[in-house]
Amino acid sequence: MTTTPNKAAAPSVDAPVAEAPAKPAPSAPPKTERPYSPGLEGVIAAETAVGYVDGANGRLLYRGYPIGQLVEKGTYGRVAELLWTGEWRKSAKLVPAPVPDPVMCALHELPRHTHPMDALRTAVSVWGAWRRPHWPPTVDQARELTAFAPSALAAFHRLRQGLEPVAPNPKLSLAGGFLQQLTGVDPDPANARALDAYFIVGAEHGLNASTFTCRVIISTRSDLASAICGAIGALKGPLHGGAPAEVVSQLHEIGSPDHAERWVREAIERGDRIMGFGHRVYRAYDPRAAALRKVAEGMSDMAEWLDVAVKVEDVVLRVFGELKPDRVIKTNVEYYAAAVLQGVGLPPDLFPPTFALARMAGWGAHAIEQASADKLIRPDARYVGPAEMDVPALGH
Ligand code: ACO
Repeated sequence: MTTTPNKAAAPSVDAPVAEAPAKPAPSAPPKTERPYSPGLEGVIAAETAVGYVDGANGRLLYRGYPIGQLVEKGTYGRVAELLWTGEWRKSAKLVPAPVPDPVMCALHELPRHTHPMDALRTAVSVWGAWRRPHWPPTVDQARELTAFAPSALAAFHRLRQGLEPVAPNPKLSLAGGFLQQLTGVDPDPANARALDAYFIVGAEHGLNASTFTCRVIISTRSDLASAICGAIGALKGPLHGGAPAEVVSQLHEIGSPDHAERWVREAIERGDRIMGFGHRVYRAYDPRAAALRKVAEGMSDMAEWLDVAVKVEDVVLRVFGELKPDRVIKTNVEYYAAAVLQGVGLPPDLFPPTFALARMAGWGAHAIEQASADKLIRPDARYVGPAEMDVPALGH
């Protein structure tokens, strides 16, 4: 229920002051007893069986299974099916699908300077216009979207370099097929496996900003393509999915671990955000960061970069402990995501849309779950504007 402020008459600009009857002072809007939580922090806005983020203990479960075990024992295809259907099946797999013609035409039309995140959002939008997925969203819709999205992003990356897109190799995994379509050659299996692990880690994370956006759109009985377009828009922001690219430039700016202490202190004192650190929910080490650090440690090309990253991380955590003792700020997933994504050869501006490719699984699962709850998400706002008053006459 929306609260209405009391009506209070405002002075008329037309009436002579002497003739105006005494007016009551404008009354303040009534105070509501309901609590207000800026940024919806701590507010429970949905029930979900998809994933569990245990911020206090640094645990992340997908349908009950710990993320570390899923990375060790799973593939992205199997994990995506688990998220969508709740079933853990050996036979479950996802292979890269070709880019549908209407989507490819749209990608050809985009200016080369288009940000790849915008290109991916456009690809999903055109897919929606072409396929017209109906509400409620289905597993088949989620599968189709998730399977062609990496091909569309890879096609755009080639087009912006003046290269022709390449057809996907259906014998590869979704992550491997993405690398193959970026470069035109079958990827090194170790790189394909590392990117597959990144996809697993990025697949789902509770009611984060982009997943919430997706659920809000589905709650209006809108379609999956619209919901995913909205989610990509939310993920684009530097406080959400834009962080790993900035981790790379941050480490580049710091240069050597010897400069880290001064750089970090000055940045925090200026009020800057250190990318790859802090999280709304985790007060313990982000388990996704731990899983990706392990993956990055297995990538021989990243050894030198990782050495600097680990030393800088130690300094950042120590300085945070000193300068922000009231807030537990730990390393988040994006810090080591930057290592893995660089290690497989992606340029930094492909980091956010690659995160979106991984998160397609979680978005789809939440969309399906939200539709089955079928409850419009429509919170309330606390009104802090002026009390009701008459519109002043403006004269002629
Ligand atoms: N660098 C510097 N200060 C930080 C950081 C950081 N990375 N994270 C939190 N803080 C400080 C804030 O300045 C604030 O301090 P103050 O109370 O003295 O003003 C306090 O901690 C609380 O910060 P909020 O922004 O209110 O906390 P919130 O829970 O909303 O922030 C967020 C979460 C946005 C992720 C934040 O930690 C951040 O900006 N991190 C850097 C960006 C980043 O790495 N994003 C990726 C997150 S993971 C993901 O989305 C997949």
